[in-house]
Amino acid sequence: MAFSSKAIEEYMPADWTIDSWRSKPVSQQAEYDDEAELERTLKQLTTLPPIVTSWEVEKLKNHLAAVSRGECFLLQGGDCSEKFTDCRSSSIDSKLKILLKMSLVLIHGGGKQVVRVGRIAGQYAKPRSSNTETIDGVSLPSYRGDLINRPQFTPEDRRPDPKNLLEAYSRSAMTINFIRSLLSGGFGDVHNPQVWDLSFADQATRSDQYAQIVREMSGAVRFLETMVGRRLEELGATEFYTSHEGLHLPYEQAVSELPPLRDGWYNLGTHFPWIGDRTRALGGAHIEYFRGLKNPIGVKVGPTMTPGELVDLANILNPDNEPGRLMFIHRMGEKRIADKLPVLLEAIKKSGHSVVWCSDPMHGNTYKTDSGIKTRHFDAILSELEQAFAIHDEAGTILGGVHFELTGEDVTEVVGGARGLSEDDLHRAYESDVDPRLNHEQALELAFLIAAQLRKRR
Ligand code: PEP
Ligand code: CO
Repeated sequence: MAFSSKAIEEYMPADWTIDSWRSKPVSQQAEYDDEAELERTLKQLTTLPPIVTSWEVEKLKNHLAAVSRGECFLLQGGDCSEKFTDCRSSSIDSKLKILLKMSLVLIHGGGKQVVRVGRIAGQYAKPRSSNTETIDGVSLPSYRGDLINRPQFTPEDRRPDPKNLLEAYSRSAMTINFIRSLLSGGFGDVHNPQVWDLSFADQATRSDQYAQIVREMSGAVRFLETMVGRRLEELGATEFYTSHEGLHLPYEQAVSELPPLRDGWYNLGTHFPWIGDRTRALGGAHIEYFRGLKNPIGVKVGPTMTPGELVDLANILNPDNEPGRLMFIHRMGEKRIADKLPVLLEAIKKSGHSVVWCSDPMHGNTYKTDSGIKTRHFDAILSELEQAFAIHDEAGTILGGVHFELTGEDVTEVVGGARGLSEDDLHRAYESDVDPRLNHEQALELAFLIAAQLRKRR
């Protein structure tokens, strides 16, 4: 069934072109001081080979269609914002490892395939609440992510520099290249007990259960490999996709292509671009750019979203109701989800749209400590997730996946978890310039807790 609506007529009257977004109101963009330099750089970007292919993009869309039917579960995660300095083997290796481990725990719990999508290989741009930052009476452009400028508070570092666009593209390509090599080289090896450091679990109430699950998974993998006479990675069991917020539209346009033998535009700078909660305005430039893409796309859905707006977004972004095309990633906060989510689920259900529902339990649960450090509490994250599962059950809709900000390293940015990190621990290893991330222990613990939710619903 194709959808039409007043919203399409009102907001999207003209034919779409790759740059039709330029005639719409746009927010969260950088201001460059040399337009000609920017144009030269964008042109150069359009000549470079893509980071992903349209075949992979279509494959992900099919997987997401399966997620929307409840046949697969989605795990999306990675840094709030990657830094250029994160393009190192140890950082990429540890992020991939934690996502693979989490996905295995989820497969074990849910008894279904897990689609793995990293916030990686291109997650370089951040929305900011203000265009400028003022310290001691000096105002400079806000830091908008390494795609645009640098966090240090000097005029040189904060100047939006077009060279960063090329640097981001190169580093995205290097990152995905290393990921592909790791995955094809047996990286998903779960036999090796060293891959599973469960020392944190000694302090968790369910520690025996966690150890038992890991033993069962290792045994199951060994059994499967013996049965079929091939290793896990040869069975294509470790597919991995990339995603980032499609925020900076000149860059996103420049990495979009009309591939041969395809009948539309693909953003080939990533498999799955999403629209942030601050740039999802109906009639705005981001919606205009995204609606013409063939990729599967996401929209972050915060507490100010109304049911009417959400249905309009579905009409505009997925008028043909293509399965797997559109994901709504709700991020309400543990205190608001019970109030805000049910009416949105009802409205979409009533509209007949097929969407993938995903819970981001991070972005509605950020707070500042008394000493001014941005953090999140593990219990609030878990509470939002558990409520999300229950609310979808009640509505008869399917919570298809989860979206996390996490790192494979031993940072101290989120409080709580089995180790009981406190606000006093935050200074020890706080590395994020933007939002606080789960460390590898907290991420793995959450995977065990989500697996328990999935097991109940098998
Ligand atoms: C993010 O995912 O880092 C982000 C900015 O989220 P949101 O758009 O949901 O605020
Ligand atoms: Co964030």
